Amino acid sequence: MNDKQLAAPDNTAVRVALWRALHVEVDSPPHVFEDVVGLKLAAPDDGWRSRPDMSPFTQPFRASIVARARFIEDLVEEQAARGVGQYVILGAGLDTFAQRRPELASRLLVFEIDQPGPQAWKRQRLVDLGLGIPSFLRLVPVDFEAGDAWWERLAASGFDSGRPAVVASTGVSMYLTKDAIAATLRKVAALAPGSTLAMSFLLPIELADPEVRPGMERAVAGARANGTPFISFFTPTEMLTLAREAGFREVRHVSAAALAQRYFAGRTDGLRPPNNSEELLVATT
Ligand SMILES: C[S@@+](CC[C@H](N)C(=O)[O-])C[C@H]1O[C@@H](n2cnc3c(N)ncnc32)[C@H](O)[C@@H]1O
Repeated sequence: MNDKQLAAPDNTAVRVALWRALHVEVDSPPHVFEDVVGLKLAAPDDGWRSRPDMSPFTQPFRASIVARARFIEDLVEEQAARGVGQYVILGAGLDTFAQRRPELASRLLVFEIDQPGPQAWKRQRLVDLGLGIPSFLRLVPVDFEAGDAWWERLAASGFDSGRPAVVASTGVSMYLTKDAIAATLRKVAALAPGSTLAMSFLLPIELADPEVRPGMERAVAGARANGTPFISFFTPTEMLTLAREAGFREVRHVSAAALAQRYFAGRTDGLRPPNNSEELLVATT
């Protein structure tokens, strides 16, 4: 493959960026998360809102995506207030924290890790849109499945392993093998004391709320057809065990119900993340 073929966006990253934009466009305020920069990066055709994956049927998944994004940025804000100065985004995709929150991001060093091709595409889009790559943002190309020495690359990009960090991984673990996930957990667990990992994971489909199970089954089939199959699923207990075994000092599960209570209470439009679909591990060193 030549560079041009490689430098293409990851379709799963585009989808979640479009869901974040759709949230702002079609859901009534207050918005759980406001991100329209991802839409600019993706620059889809005019008819993007008619894509099958943007249909009303996928509303619960949109809720899940904005919930996890909001949770992560609240966590980063809270940890930055405690003096944590490094933020690592694993499988960053079209994450736009650095562009939307420059006042907070510029007080940190922000490291975006992603597959080399999609990341090269994003770098070019940031330049083309005149957003550029600010000095506090480091783009680190890595393929977690290629046995890359990604930790060394992160250090070479300015990461200080002697100082604590927030590490986020949303919408990535389901595309990775359990070995790659366990290896990542072990690396993050070895970070300086006071570091926090927040990682989303998919629960086995048969545990999902009955009303979203058909949607999950369609998502599974779609992901497979697009060449980005979901391959890893965990119950919360399995995920907490894996994180404990990786060496984290404290581990907790943040359920969709907890996210719904925190960010969607009082809404009258039915928008809320579905139970037992995608949930979060929060682990500290
Ligand atoms: C669904 S997107 C999530 C993007 C972002 N975290 C978010 O929540 O918007 C999945 C991301 O994982 C990345 N990814 C998938 N497999 C990967 C691998 N083997 N190595 C590095 N990144 C990977 C993709 O490139 C993509 O950016």
